[in-house]
Amino acid sequence: MAVLVTGGAGFIGSHTAVELLNSGRDIVIVDNFSNSKPKALDAIKKITGKDFKFYEINYLDREKLEKVFEENKIDAVLNFAGYKAVGESVKKPLEYYENNISGCLVLLETMRKYNVKKFVFSSSATVYGEPERIPLTEECKTGGTTNPYGTSKLFIEQILKDLYASDNSWDICILRYFNPVGAHESGLIGEEPQGVPNNLMPYVVRVASGELKELSVFGNDYDTPDGTGVRDYIHVVDLAKGHICALNKLDKEGSGLYIYNLGTGTGYSVLDMVKAFEQITGKKVPYKIAPRRAGDIATCYSDPTKAKEELGWTAEKGIKEMCEDSWNFIQKNKE
Ligand code: UFG
Repeated sequence: MAVLVTGGAGFIGSHTAVELLNSGRDIVIVDNFSNSKPKALDAIKKITGKDFKFYEINYLDREKLEKVFEENKIDAVLNFAGYKAVGESVKKPLEYYENNISGCLVLLETMRKYNVKKFVFSSSATVYGEPERIPLTEECKTGGTTNPYGTSKLFIEQILKDLYASDNSWDICILRYFNPVGAHESGLIGEEPQGVPNNLMPYVVRVASGELKELSVFGNDYDTPDGTGVRDYIHVVDLAKGHICALNKLDKEGSGLYIYNLGTGTGYSVLDMVKAFEQITGKKVPYKIAPRRAGDIATCYSDPTKAKEELGWTAEKGIKEMCEDSWNFIQKNKE
Protein backbone atom coordinates (compact mmCIF):
# COMPACT_ATOMS: atom_id res chain seq x y z
CA MET A 1 0.00 0.00 0.00
CA ALA A 2 1.26 3.47 -0.83
CA VAL A 3 0.42 7.05 -0.01
CA LEU A 4 -0.13 9.24 -3.07
CA VAL A 5 1.53 12.64 -2.67
CA THR A 6 0.38 15.18 -5.25
CA GLY A 7 2.75 18.14 -5.53
CA GLY A 8 5.43 16.04 -3.86
CA ALA A 9 8.31 17.99 -5.42
CA GLY A 10 7.13 21.28 -3.89
CA PHE A 11 8.11 22.95 -0.63
CA ILE A 12 5.77 21.25 1.84
CA GLY A 13 5.20 18.17 -0.34
CA SER A 14 8.91 17.29 -0.54
CA HIS A 15 9.44 17.64 3.22
CA THR A 16 6.38 15.50 3.87
CA ALA A 17 7.58 12.89 1.36
CA VAL A 18 10.81 12.61 3.39
CA GLU A 19 8.90 12.11 6.64
CA LEU A 20 6.57 9.56 5.04
CA LEU A 21 9.51 7.51 3.76
CA ASN A 22 11.31 7.85 7.11
CA SER A 23 8.22 6.57 8.89
CA GLY A 24 8.33 3.43 6.76
CA ARG A 25 5.52 4.21 4.31
CA ASP A 26 5.69 3.66 0.56
CA ILE A 27 4.84 6.69 -1.54
CA VAL A 28 3.96 7.62 -5.12
CA ILE A 29 4.60 11.22 -6.15
CA VAL A 30 2.68 13.14 -8.80
CA ASP A 31 3.93 16.57 -9.84
CA ASN A 32 4.03 18.68 -13.02
CA PHE A 33 6.87 20.96 -11.81
CA SER A 34 4.71 24.05 -12.25
CA ASN A 35 6.30 25.51 -9.11
CA SER A 36 9.05 23.02 -8.30
CA LYS A 37 12.09 21.32 -9.80
CA PRO A 38 12.95 17.69 -10.58
CA LYS A 39 16.07 17.90 -8.41
CA ALA A 40 13.81 17.86 -5.31
CA LEU A 41 12.97 14.24 -6.16
CA ASP A 42 16.65 13.24 -6.19
CA ALA A 43 17.10 15.11 -2.91
CA ILE A 44 14.25 13.16 -1.28
CA LYS A 45 15.95 9.91 -2.36
CA LYS A 46 19.33 11.10 -1.12
CA ILE A 47 18.02 12.17 2.29
CA THR A 48 16.04 9.00 2.92
CA GLY A 49 18.05 6.42 0.97
CA LYS A 50 14.71 5.19 -0.37
CA ASP A 51 13.13 5.04 -3.80
CA PHE A 52 9.58 5.74 -4.95
CA LYS A 53 7.50 5.91 -8.11
CA PHE A 54 7.03 9.27 -9.79
CA TYR A 55 4.59 10.49 -12.46
CA GLU A 56 5.08 13.83 -14.22
CA ILE A 57 1.45 14.73 -14.70
CA ASN A 58 -0.99 17.50 -13.97
CA TYR A 59 -3.44 16.24 -11.35
CA LEU A 60 -6.24 17.79 -13.40
CA ASP A 61 -5.57 15.21 -16.12
CA ARG A 62 -8.17 12.65 -15.11
CA GLU A 63 -7.04 9.94 -17.51
CA LYS A 64 -3.43 10.07 -16.40
CA LEU A 65 -4.40 10.32 -12.75
CA GLU A 66 -6.59 7.23 -13.09
CA LYS A 67 -3.60 5.39 -14.51
CA VAL A 68 -1.71 6.14 -11.28
CA PHE A 69 -4.52 4.52 -9.29
CA GLU A 70 -4.62 1.57 -11.75
CA GLU A 71 -0.90 0.92 -11.51
CA ASN A 72 -0.44 1.35 -7.75
CA LYS A 73 -2.13 0.21 -4.59
CA ILE A 74 -2.99 3.62 -3.14
CA ASP A 75 -4.60 3.69 0.28
CA ALA A 76 -4.35 7.38 1.19
CA VAL A 77 -3.83 10.71 -0.56
CA LEU A 78 -2.07 13.88 0.56
CA ASN A 79 -2.74 16.85 -1.70
CA PHE A 80 0.02 19.47 -2.04
CA ALA A 81 -0.71 20.37 -5.66
CA GLY A 82 -2.38 23.72 -4.93
CA TYR A 83 -1.21 27.13 -6.08
CA LYS A 84 -0.29 29.24 -3.06
CA ALA A 85 0.73 32.80 -3.90
CA VAL A 86 -1.77 35.20 -2.36
CA GLY A 87 -0.95 38.20 -4.60
CA GLU A 88 -0.92 36.14 -7.78
CA SER A 89 -4.31 34.66 -6.90
CA VAL A 90 -5.84 38.14 -6.96
CA LYS A 91 -4.57 38.62 -10.52
CA LYS A 92 -5.40 35.10 -11.72
CA PRO A 93 -8.57 34.01 -9.89
CA LEU A 94 -9.73 31.61 -12.60
CA GLU A 95 -6.38 29.83 -12.72
CA TYR A 96 -6.42 29.51 -8.93
CA TYR A 97 -9.97 28.18 -8.73
CA GLU A 98 -9.31 25.84 -11.65
CA ASN A 99 -6.11 24.38 -10.25
CA ASN A 100 -7.03 24.31 -6.57
CA ILE A 101 -10.72 23.47 -6.68
CA SER A 102 -11.19 21.61 -9.97
CA GLY A 103 -7.91 19.76 -9.38
CA CYS A 104 -9.06 18.67 -5.94
CA LEU A 105 -12.44 17.58 -7.37
CA VAL A 106 -10.76 15.42 -10.02
CA LEU A 107 -8.60 13.92 -7.30
CA LEU A 108 -11.57 13.18 -5.00
CA GLU A 109 -13.63 11.73 -7.85
CA THR A 110 -10.76 9.49 -8.84
CA MET A 111 -10.30 8.42 -5.24
CA ARG A 112 -13.99 7.54 -5.04
CA LYS A 113 -13.80 5.56 -8.27
CA TYR A 114 -10.94 3.45 -6.87
CA ASN A 115 -12.49 3.26 -3.41
CA VAL A 116 -9.67 5.19 -1.73
CA LYS A 117 -11.24 7.32 0.98
CA LYS A 118 -8.40 8.47 3.19
CA PHE A 119 -7.51 12.09 2.46
CA VAL A 120 -5.35 14.72 4.14
CA PHE A 121 -5.97 18.24 2.90
CA SER A 122 -3.53 21.17 3.10
CA SER A 123 -5.64 24.05 4.31
CA SER A 124 -4.48 27.34 5.74
CA ALA A 125 -4.94 29.69 8.66
CA THR A 126 -6.13 32.13 6.03
CA VAL A 127 -9.59 30.46 6.20
CA TYR A 128 -10.14 32.27 9.52
CA GLY A 129 -10.15 35.65 7.71
CA GLU A 130 -10.02 38.44 10.29
CA PRO A 131 -9.50 36.36 13.47
CA GLU A 132 -12.48 36.22 15.80
CA ARG A 133 -10.07 35.84 18.72
CA ILE A 134 -6.41 35.08 19.32
CA PRO A 135 -5.08 32.44 19.70
CA LEU A 136 -7.15 30.79 16.99
CA THR A 137 -8.81 27.49 17.88
CA GLU A 138 -10.39 25.21 15.31
CA GLU A 139 -13.81 26.33 16.56
CA CYS A 140 -13.23 29.97 15.58
CA LYS A 141 -15.44 31.13 12.77
CA THR A 142 -14.11 30.84 9.24
CA GLY A 143 -14.87 32.99 6.21
CA GLY A 144 -14.19 36.54 5.15
CA THR A 145 -11.16 35.46 3.12
CA THR A 146 -9.63 38.36 1.23
CA ASN A 147 -8.16 36.66 -1.82
CA PRO A 148 -8.95 33.77 -4.23
CA TYR A 149 -6.16 31.62 -2.76
CA GLY A 150 -7.74 31.75 0.70
CA THR A 151 -11.22 31.37 -0.74
CA SER A 152 -10.16 28.26 -2.65
CA LYS A 153 -9.02 26.70 0.64
CA LEU A 154 -12.28 27.68 2.33
CA PHE A 155 -14.38 26.22 -0.54
CA ILE A 156 -12.47 22.95 -0.50
CA GLU A 157 -13.00 22.65 3.26
CA GLN A 158 -16.75 23.01 2.59
CA ILE A 159 -16.62 20.48 -0.26
CA LEU A 160 -14.93 17.99 2.07
CA LYS A 161 -17.55 18.56 4.77
CA ASP A 162 -20.35 18.01 2.22
CA LEU A 163 -18.61 14.93 0.87
CA TYR A 164 -18.30 13.44 4.34
CA ALA A 165 -21.93 14.24 5.12
CA SER A 166 -22.98 12.38 1.97
CA ASP A 167 -20.83 9.34 2.68
CA ASN A 168 -19.34 8.92 6.11
CA SER A 169 -17.07 6.10 5.08
CA TRP A 170 -14.62 8.84 4.03
CA ASP A 171 -11.71 9.47 6.35
CA ILE A 172 -10.64 13.10 6.04
CA CYS A 173 -8.20 15.30 7.88
CA ILE A 174 -8.04 19.04 7.21
CA LEU A 175 -4.79 20.64 8.37
CA ARG A 176 -4.76 24.42 8.74
CA TYR A 177 -1.16 25.53 8.32
CA PHE A 178 0.10 28.72 9.89
CA ASN A 179 3.27 30.27 8.38
CA PRO A 180 5.66 27.55 7.15
CA VAL A 181 9.35 28.54 7.02
CA GLY A 182 12.77 26.87 7.22
CA ALA A 183 14.10 23.95 5.20
CA HIS A 184 15.40 20.44 5.71
CA GLU A 185 18.58 20.50 7.80
CA SER A 186 20.48 18.79 4.98
CA GLY A 187 20.02 21.92 2.86
CA LEU A 188 18.91 19.66 -0.03
CA ILE A 189 15.25 20.70 -0.07
CA GLY A 190 13.68 24.03 0.81
CA GLU A 191 11.60 26.87 -0.53
CA GLU A 192 12.48 28.25 -3.94
CA PRO A 193 9.91 30.88 -4.88
CA GLN A 194 10.05 31.97 -8.49
CA GLY A 195 10.88 35.65 -8.97
CA VAL A 196 10.80 38.14 -6.10
CA PRO A 197 9.45 36.43 -2.98
CA ASN A 198 6.21 37.63 -1.40
CA ASN A 199 6.61 35.92 1.95
CA LEU A 200 8.71 37.33 4.75
CA MET A 201 11.31 34.61 5.33
CA PRO A 202 12.35 34.01 1.69
CA TYR A 203 12.64 37.79 1.32
CA VAL A 204 14.77 38.18 4.47
CA VAL A 205 17.09 35.42 3.29
CA ARG A 206 17.61 37.09 -0.08
CA VAL A 207 18.34 40.46 1.52
CA ALA A 208 20.88 38.81 3.83
CA SER A 209 22.59 37.14 0.87
CA GLY A 210 22.77 40.44 -1.03
CA GLU A 211 20.38 39.36 -3.81
CA LEU A 212 17.87 42.00 -2.74
CA LYS A 213 18.72 45.43 -1.37
CA GLU A 214 16.46 45.81 1.64
CA LEU A 215 13.34 44.46 3.26
CA SER A 216 10.18 46.53 3.28
CA VAL A 217 8.45 46.09 6.63
CA PHE A 218 4.77 46.43 5.77
CA GLY A 219 3.46 48.70 8.50
CA ASN A 220 4.71 49.52 12.01
CA ASP A 221 1.45 50.95 13.32
CA TYR A 222 -0.44 47.75 14.04
CA ASP A 223 -1.79 47.08 17.51
CA THR A 224 1.08 44.71 18.36
CA PRO A 225 4.02 45.02 20.80
CA ASP A 226 6.36 46.67 18.24
CA GLY A 227 3.72 47.77 15.72
CA THR A 228 4.66 45.17 13.07
CA GLY A 229 2.56 42.16 12.05
CA VAL A 230 2.64 39.08 14.28
CA ARG A 231 2.51 35.53 12.83
CA ASP A 232 2.87 31.93 13.93
CA TYR A 233 5.96 30.74 12.02
CA ILE A 234 6.31 26.97 11.92
CA HIS A 235 9.30 24.95 10.74
CA VAL A 236 8.41 23.00 7.60
CA VAL A 237 9.82 19.76 9.05
CA ASP A 238 7.48 20.05 12.06
CA LEU A 239 4.64 20.74 9.65
CA ALA A 240 5.59 17.68 7.57
CA LYS A 241 5.59 15.52 10.70
CA GLY A 242 2.07 16.74 11.46
CA HIS A 243 0.91 14.90 8.31
CA ILE A 244 2.35 11.61 9.54
CA CYS A 245 0.44 12.07 12.82
CA ALA A 246 -2.72 12.89 10.83
CA LEU A 247 -2.36 9.72 8.73
CA ASN A 248 -1.76 7.64 11.86
CA LYS A 249 -4.91 9.11 13.35
CA LEU A 250 -6.94 8.24 10.23
CA ASP A 251 -5.51 4.70 10.22
CA LYS A 252 -6.48 4.27 13.85
CA GLU A 253 -9.94 5.85 13.88
CA GLY A 254 -11.58 4.51 10.78
CA SER A 255 -13.93 7.02 9.22
CA GLY A 256 -14.32 10.60 10.35
CA LEU A 257 -13.66 14.23 9.47
CA TYR A 258 -11.10 16.03 11.57
CA ILE A 259 -9.70 19.57 11.54
CA TYR A 260 -6.45 20.67 13.17
CA ASN A 261 -4.37 23.81 13.38
CA LEU A 262 -0.69 23.19 12.70
CA GLY A 263 1.17 26.03 14.35
CA THR A 264 3.50 26.56 17.30
CA GLY A 265 1.16 28.73 19.36
CA THR A 266 3.81 31.48 19.52
CA GLY A 267 3.56 34.75 17.62
CA TYR A 268 6.62 36.64 16.37
CA SER A 269 6.57 40.10 14.84
CA VAL A 270 8.32 41.02 11.59
CA LEU A 271 11.04 42.79 13.57
CA ASP A 272 11.41 39.80 15.95
CA MET A 273 12.11 37.65 12.90
CA VAL A 274 14.58 40.13 11.42
CA LYS A 275 16.49 40.48 14.71
CA ALA A 276 16.54 36.72 15.33
CA PHE A 277 17.78 36.11 11.79
CA GLU A 278 20.58 38.67 12.20
CA GLN A 279 21.65 37.22 15.55
CA ILE A 280 21.60 33.61 14.44
CA THR A 281 23.29 34.00 11.06
CA GLY A 282 25.50 37.02 11.80
CA LYS A 283 24.19 38.64 8.59
CA LYS A 284 22.72 42.14 8.38
CA VAL A 285 19.17 42.55 7.08
CA PRO A 286 18.72 46.20 6.09
CA TYR A 287 15.08 47.23 6.21
CA LYS A 288 12.81 50.22 5.81
CA ILE A 289 9.33 50.82 7.16
CA ALA A 290 6.79 50.80 4.31
CA PRO A 291 3.01 51.24 4.21
CA ARG A 292 0.75 48.38 5.29
CA ARG A 293 0.17 45.69 2.67
CA ALA A 294 -3.44 45.38 1.54
CA GLY A 295 -5.26 42.41 3.04
CA ASP A 296 -2.81 41.92 5.96
CA ILE A 297 -4.06 41.47 9.51
CA ALA A 298 -2.25 42.58 12.68
CA THR A 299 -1.96 39.29 14.53
CA CYS A 300 -2.45 35.64 13.69
CA TYR A 301 -1.32 32.71 15.79
CA SER A 302 -2.71 29.33 16.70
CA ASP A 303 -3.85 27.46 19.71
CA PRO A 304 -2.25 24.08 18.85
CA THR A 305 -3.80 22.21 21.81
CA LYS A 306 -6.18 20.07 19.77
CA ALA A 307 -3.39 18.69 17.56
CA LYS A 308 -1.37 17.92 20.68
CA GLU A 309 -4.20 16.12 22.43
CA GLU A 310 -5.65 14.23 19.48
CA LEU A 311 -2.67 13.73 17.16
CA GLY A 312 0.11 13.66 19.75
CA TRP A 313 1.84 16.32 17.64
CA THR A 314 3.68 19.44 18.78
CA ALA A 315 6.10 21.66 16.91
CA GLU A 316 9.61 21.00 18.24
CA LYS A 317 11.78 23.39 16.28
CA GLY A 318 12.13 27.00 17.32
CA ILE A 319 13.03 30.29 15.69
CA LYS A 320 16.74 29.34 15.76
CA GLU A 321 16.29 26.30 13.50
CA MET A 322 13.85 28.23 11.28
CA CYS A 323 16.48 30.92 10.60
CA GLU A 324 19.49 28.58 10.43
CA ASP A 325 17.87 26.12 8.05
CA SER A 326 16.45 28.80 5.73
CA TRP A 327 19.92 30.36 5.52
CA ASN A 328 21.69 27.01 5.08
CA PHE A 329 19.37 26.12 2.20
CA ILE A 330 20.01 29.29 0.24
CA GLN A 331 23.77 29.07 0.84
CA LYS A 332 23.84 25.53 -0.53
CA ASN A 333 21.62 26.31 -3.50
CA LYS A 334 23.15 29.42 -5.03
CA GLU A 335 22.88 28.86 -8.76
N1 UFG B 1 6.00 41.09 5.53
C1 UFG B 1 6.78 42.23 5.45
N2 UFG B 1 7.55 42.37 4.34
C2 UFG B 1 7.61 41.46 3.34
C3 UFG B 1 6.81 40.29 3.43
C4 UFG B 1 6.01 40.16 4.55
O1 UFG B 1 6.77 43.08 6.33
O2 UFG B 1 8.35 41.66 2.35
C5 UFG B 1 5.16 40.89 6.73
C6 UFG B 1 3.69 40.83 6.43
O3 UFG B 1 3.14 42.12 6.38
C7 UFG B 1 3.18 39.98 7.59
C8 UFG B 1 4.34 39.02 7.85
O4 UFG B 1 5.49 39.65 7.28
O5 UFG B 1 2.98 40.76 8.73
C9 UFG B 1 4.15 37.66 7.21
O6 UFG B 1 3.87 37.81 5.84
P1 UFG B 1 3.94 36.59 4.81
O7 UFG B 1 3.65 37.14 3.46
O8 UFG B 1 5.18 35.83 4.99
O9 UFG B 1 2.77 35.63 5.31
P2 UFG B 1 1.20 35.91 5.50
O10 UFG B 1 0.93 35.79 6.96
O11 UFG B 1 0.75 37.11 4.82
O12 UFG B 1 0.57 34.70 4.69
C10 UFG B 1 1.05 33.40 4.86
C11 UFG B 1 1.00 32.64 3.54
C12 UFG B 1 -0.39 32.32 3.16
C13 UFG B 1 -1.15 31.73 4.29
C14 UFG B 1 -1.06 32.57 5.53
C15 UFG B 1 -1.72 31.88 6.67
O13 UFG B 1 1.59 33.37 2.51
O14 UFG B 1 -0.33 31.36 2.13
O15 UFG B 1 0.29 32.78 5.84
O16 UFG B 1 -1.86 32.72 7.76
F1 UFG B 1 -2.44 31.58 3.96
